[in-house]
Amino acid sequence: MLSVTDIEFGYGAAPTVSGISLAVAEGERVAIIGGNGAGKSTVLKLIAGIETPWSGAISLNDRALPREAHAVAMSGLRMTPQGHPVFNSLTIDEHLQLASDLRSKGARTQINPDEAYRMFPRLAERKGAMASSLSGGERAFLGLAQVLVAGCSIILLDEPSAGLAPAAMKELFALLYRIGTETGVTMLIVEQNAAAAMEICDRIYVMSEGRILLSGTPAELSARDDIVAAYLSF
Ligand SMILES: Nc1ncnc2c1ncn2[C@@H]1O[C@H](COP(=O)(O)OP(=O)(O)OP(=O)(O)O)[C@@H](O)[C@H]1O
Ligand SMILES: [Mg+2]
Repeated sequence: MLSVTDIEFGYGAAPTVSGISLAVAEGERVAIIGGNGAGKSTVLKLIAGIETPWSGAISLNDRALPREAHAVAMSGLRMTPQGHPVFNSLTIDEHLQLASDLRSKGARTQINPDEAYRMFPRLAERKGAMASSLSGGERAFLGLAQVLVAGCSIILLDEPSAGLAPAAMKELFALLYRIGTETGVTMLIVEQNAAAAMEICDRIYVMSEGRILLSGTPAELSARDDIVAAYLSF
């Protein structure tokens, strides 16, 4: 479904990420893990059209993705950015109305705000609250609800569990798994909580210093003592 072939990109003269090739099949949940500054968010931004690769190719369903963020989103590839950004002076309900005004045509998964409130009861309880007053967990759920209401075939999630309390984190991972299995939506998830990502994802890519070090299933990676020691033992 999503295919990234040998992309290279840098913010300055030197490359930040190089030789990045990865593939995500329809309905798969795939994680990218790696340390701070490895280039994980940069890879997601390149796929989402926020940054433009110097070289290489990115395609969705065998067609080159547009190199402009809004056009990429409208094609059904949507991202929830790192840090759960929200519009502080809009309510939860206004966020979801805005998302429904930006609907993609022909997206695999599309729900209306009422369905989103059933899926995320905590958002329903706080429907009229200003987004500035939301907790980290509530903002993470709002970001996910927004992409589902706007419609998506593949979701890129940049550290969805960062800053969440343990209970909210557990709830979020369970929900990601449920959304994936129930709707068939494809997910590419950057996660610092590698253990949780291993539990809900089919395959993992490990990034280090702007490159993909290796990839494999959770079982394959767990069998590598060096990988467990460097990335999974916390
Ligand atoms: N807008 C930018 N301008 C210049 N340099 C940037 C920019 N964004 C990121 N970088 C640099 O590019 C490198 C990769 O950053 P990136 O955000 O992709 O890493 P990451 O793996 O997502 O890290 P983290 O786990 O901390 O989120 C880092 O050295 C970072 O400082
Ligand atoms: Mg990042």
